Amino acid sequence: MMFRTACLMLSVTSFAAGFSITGTSSFNGIHNSARASYHSPSTTASSTRLYMADVADTVSIDDVSAELKQHKDDFDAKIAATSTVAEVESLRVEYLGKKGPINKVMSYMRLLPNEDKPKLGSVVNAIKSELETVINGKKDEMEFVEIEKQMETEGIDVTMPGITSSDRVGRRHPLSMTMEKAVDIFLELGYDTVTECAESPEIETDYYCFEALNCPKDHPARDMQDTFYLTEDMGSLLRTHTSAVQIRQLSKREPPLRIVSPGRVYRKDDIDATHSMIFHQIEILALDEKGKLNLGHLKGTIEHFLREMFGPEIKVRFRGSYFPFTEPSMEVDVYFRGKWLEVLGCGMVDPNVIKMAGLDPDKISGFAAGFGVERFAMVIHGINDIREFYKNDVRFLDQFPSFYDEGLTSLMNGEVGRDPDGNIAERVPAAKKEQTQKKKKQQPAAPSGDIDVSKLDIRVGVITKAWMHEEADKLFCEEIDIGEEEGPRKIASGLRAHYNVEDLEGQRVLVLANLKTRKLVGFPSHGMVLCAASEDGSKVEFIEPPADAKIGERVMVDGFDGEPVS
Ligand code: DAH
Repeated sequence: MMFRTACLMLSVTSFAAGFSITGTSSFNGIHNSARASYHSPSTTASSTRLYMADVADTVSIDDVSAELKQHKDDFDAKIAATSTVAEVESLRVEYLGKKGPINKVMSYMRLLPNEDKPKLGSVVNAIKSELETVINGKKDEMEFVEIEKQMETEGIDVTMPGITSSDRVGRRHPLSMTMEKAVDIFLELGYDTVTECAESPEIETDYYCFEALNCPKDHPARDMQDTFYLTEDMGSLLRTHTSAVQIRQLSKREPPLRIVSPGRVYRKDDIDATHSMIFHQIEILALDEKGKLNLGHLKGTIEHFLREMFGPEIKVRFRGSYFPFTEPSMEVDVYFRGKWLEVLGCGMVDPNVIKMAGLDPDKISGFAAGFGVERFAMVIHGINDIREFYKNDVRFLDQFPSFYDEGLTSLMNGEVGRDPDGNIAERVPAAKKEQTQKKKKQQPAAPSGDIDVSKLDIRVGVITKAWMHEEADKLFCEEIDIGEEEGPRKIASGLRAHYNVEDLEGQRVLVLANLKTRKLVGFPSHGMVLCAASEDGSKVEFIEPPADAKIGERVMVDGFDGEPVS
């Protein structure tokens, strides 16, 4: 740890002010610079701040007050130097946050003589409320200054017409999009969604949130989650996780069951770039006759889910972990953009949980998993500040595709959620955005040599069957033979304006065969038929392969002989 001369001098002063050091203290001398010594926080950043508790075995309440006074002086100096709301906020987190010096002082309880112990809370609370008053006052002041500044620089032209362009009608919020995609993946696996307020309430009881999930009142796991309690007896609370839904479901339904439950959760966290007091989670639970679901099923399900979310190439890693409601428990990481990132927790449901739900753990077993939606969206879009999601700044929201799959490629390439300079989720002034968009338009097209067409797997095929899509009036559904062993492919194409259904059977076509399956109005389409269009798009025709090309033959372009991507 760092030790500076200036700190040493201050240490001596505070020491003289009354620290009582017992003879057997592990602290063996303030002059021993090789050891960490308590020194004034005012001279050092929070990461190198040292405390009495680190060096002394006993302290008096006067020592505590002296230390708090030093923190307060330090704080006063820093707050006087702030000039924005953000700076004031980060000072609040630094001093009043869970890991801040004021809370740290609460840990001195064990060092105080018994008669001083009851005084600690009130001394700490007094300083806390003093700091809060100063912070709030300063924030109000800064907000006022910032608004004034904004009024000066950002005029509103009240004669502007309303917004009419169709691309300004609004789009889906990235959190909704991520949540819906995740839920859809489980729906496709046969899970039922649980969203009804009565089945998934945000105001929960201690029983559903903790007790029945194998976290009794004195269980240390409760320290993991700081809870907003709503009643004195701590019986009613804002749920800290969607796992509470597990027990509610089990009180209503008998296994076998598979559920996926998205919802809002609450934690008493300090708001910062990675924490919000309100956020979203998704819980899954699968229970069946004992022996039917094992760890392999859990891992397979999670891997499938992550491949759907992050693309088929994603690397997934399971690590042993601990949750009170699962045994064994695991945390799961994905290797994304060059880093391992933790994305979810899961495990086999603990037999105690099954018992608490009134079921027989000798007959029923299964698995559960839970994860934060914000966390997923942040990892996928490369967003580094959770608060961006809640500001509802259209300049931020506009960067996302409306539907997850629609933008999957750009999501994977990190093209959204970033400003034109590559900074993530930064506010881009409209004028700057326009400029860069113009710049982009003027850029010459990439030279054709940069595009490796051999990545496309284009096959010669013939339509063997065609019919109208029942719900979409623009779509045909087709079966197309491209020489695959498993039989003709099912593909939907939007060609009803250009062909009659009876003209399609027997038509020779080119099929782009290495595309991800996409549902088109409920019809899973396994590829695309290649067509050519007139410049104005009014005329669209199949590109016909040469008469001697065999069904299933791959179409190549001269000079490109690579393998298609999988
Ligand atoms: N409830 C946990 C949390 O909020 C997440 C979780 C972990 C849920 C493991 C589970 C599970 O169902 O098995 O951190």
